[in-house]
Parts: sequence; structure tokens; C-alpha cells
Amino acid sequence: MLLAIETSCDETAVAVLDDAKAACRASTIADVVIADLVSSQTKLHEPYGGVVPELAAREHIVNLPLMIGEALEQSAMTFCRLDAVCVTRGPGLKGCLLVGLCFAKSLALGLGVPLVTVNHLEGHLYAGELAAPGERPEYPLLALIVSGGHTLLVFAKEERSYEVVAKTRDDAAGEAFDKGAMLLGLPYPGGPSLSRAAIDGDFARYKLPVGVSGDPASFSFSGLKTALQRVVTQLGEKAREKEVVQDLAASYQAAIVRALTEKSVIACEAQRPRSFVLSGGVAANESLRVCLAEEMGKRGIKYCVPARRYCTDNAAMIGLLACRIIQRNPQSYRQWRSAGPQPGYLGPGVPDDIGALAKWPLGAICP
Ligand code: KG4
Ligand code: ZN
Repeated sequence: MLLAIETSCDETAVAVLDDAKAACRASTIADVVIADLVSSQTKLHEPYGGVVPELAAREHIVNLPLMIGEALEQSAMTFCRLDAVCVTRGPGLKGCLLVGLCFAKSLALGLGVPLVTVNHLEGHLYAGELAAPGERPEYPLLALIVSGGHTLLVFAKEERSYEVVAKTRDDAAGEAFDKGAMLLGLPYPGGPSLSRAAIDGDFARYKLPVGVSGDPASFSFSGLKTALQRVVTQLGEKAREKEVVQDLAASYQAAIVRALTEKSVIACEAQRPRSFVLSGGVAANESLRVCLAEEMGKRGIKYCVPARRYCTDNAAMIGLLACRIIQRNPQSYRQWRSAGPQPGYLGPGVPDDIGALAKWPLGAICP
């Protein structure tokens, strides 16, 4: 049994997973994920219109012990029955990551069980596996990871072997949603509120630019944000009218979705993957989900998109990735448990002075 901790941004998340069940391809999500808790800090950051790192870190300190207790209770578990602890090491907000990492390190050391440290972006990619047995991704795969801090197209020829084929030059897609919502006077968090406003809007009413459409290796959303700002300024008071806001939201969302879809299609043509995984907070966007489903359907590529709760930050995806890491090297984890901790280490390949990484590109993962 594995305890997973995720505190890279403003969500405190804890999960308990059954590692043996995760190893079996026929297992359902309910077999594998025994407890799965996410505490959102939306209310705390709302007055500031964005995540305040120091406040988020302090909130993680308050939340973590309570949530771990609750997750163990929900799964009818005790600390003594845990076989491993895993945690997000990066990328993310340094202070937030440190809270989770220090907690996980202490817990692993105290319990004498191995610690597994994982990459948050790779966790988002593994959220694709939190699906029914027949709907899980197959390799080679292409993944579009779109969150508040990242916009990446990643090609994985096989498990844990990554090549970043496109990334953003400036803002991330989620950031573009959040900033656009702020310009339109929509409530925090921006992504969900802008996509809600767009439902009844006319996406063809305002012409907004689709970022770096010529370059298959780059996304860019800062020009789009500036273009929206210009239109809002030109419209003046009119920009606050409900119908105008809805049309602007729809036009703005359409430009983001088009950029993401176009680059995904180009990458699919070049890499010819068997599956396409859409993940990260922005994967909760209905318009993006539908557009990509259509494009992948046309090309006969298996389309894997997690349920919404697994698109945004959660600990189940972090735990599932840790299960895969353990399964790739079962001998060393078995030995750790039978022979006890190795001096100077908290887990196989995890030195006891391991630190958090605010930046940790997927291409730098060593399987
Ligand atoms: O992955 P995530 O939960 O946290 C990060 O690692 O960043 O992603 C959060 C981002 C935010 O920018 C949020 O506005 C965006 O995902 N988001 C959405 C939607 N739901 C969340 N963006 C567009 N449409 C949505 N429905
Ligand atoms: Zn994330």
C-alpha cells in the first residue's frame, strides 16, 4: 500500500493506492485508488486573483496532517500498513513543494519504508491511466499537458522515455485562460469561469490571433492576451455587457483551443502515435476535449482523457506513477523492505538530502 502526497501548487492532495492492484492491467480505478482527497485553496487566493505562494505553503502545512489522517481512515489503514510513501518533487512552487517533500521524507524515515519522488508533469501524463482497463493509453503515445504553469506536447516512444516536441514560449494555456478571465471581469479561478461564459457566446464575433501558428514546436499565448486587452479597452463600458463578455470569452477560448489542436494534429502526423493523452487542468475544458476527440477520431488514434477530477491536480496520478516506478524495479524495493533502510538514502536512488525542484523538465527524467 502506498501513500501519495501532492503539494506543488494550491491544491493539497493525498491518496492511498494498492500497488499490487495497480500492477494488474485488469484492475479498475476503484481497485487501485483506495482513497483520494483534494483540498482546494480557491477561496484563500480568490481576493488576490491568483495563487499567493507563501499562503499556499502555509495552508499545505495545516491541511496535510489532517488529510493524511482522513485518507488512512477512509481506506481503513494505519501508518504501520504502508509499504511506501511517494511525493511530488517538482516542478512547482518551491515553498509548496518543500512542505510535501519534508512531510514525506519524515514519514518514510519514521516508518522505515521507501520514499519515491516523482515529477508533477509526468504525473499528469499518468493520469491517462486512471481510466477503465480498455481505455488506457498504449505506446508510442503523444501527450498534451496543459496546466496553469505548463503547455507541452510530449512524445513517449515507450514508458518513461520522453521527447518534448512543442512547448510554450511565454504564458501557459491555463495562465492564458486565467488572465483572459481577469480582463473580462470573470470570477477566479479564471479557466472554469471563462469556459462557462463561452458556452452561450459567438466565437466568430471577435477575430483574435492564434499564437505562432507557423511554428510546430512553439505555443504562444501572450499576444492573444494583449489582443484581448486591446479589444476590451476599445469597447470601454460595452465590454462589461453580458452578451459581449460571452462573445469575447468564446472567441478567446476558440483561439486557445485552435492553437492547441493545430499543434497536436501536426505532432500526430509527424510522430504517428497509437494513443493521444490530454491532461492537466486545462484538459477539463469541454471545447478542447471535443475538438481533440474529433481530430483523433479522424486519424484512428486512441484518445485518452482522464475524468475531470484527474485532469486538475490530484495525488492519485502521483501515486500511480510511483506504482509504475516501483514495478519497473521491484527487486530494489523488496530488498529495501527486507533489509531495512540504506544509510544516507530514503528510498532506492533517493538520497536523504534530496531537495525540491521548482523547475524540472520532462526531458530530464532518468527512468
Ligand atoms: O493542473 P492544474 O490543476 O494545476 C497546475 O499544475 O497548474 O491546472 C490549473 C489550470 C488553471 O490555470 C485553470 O484555470 C485551468 O487549469 N483550468 C481550466 C479549466 N479548468 C481548470 N482552463 C480552461 N477550462 C477549464 N474548464
Ligand atoms: Zn498540475
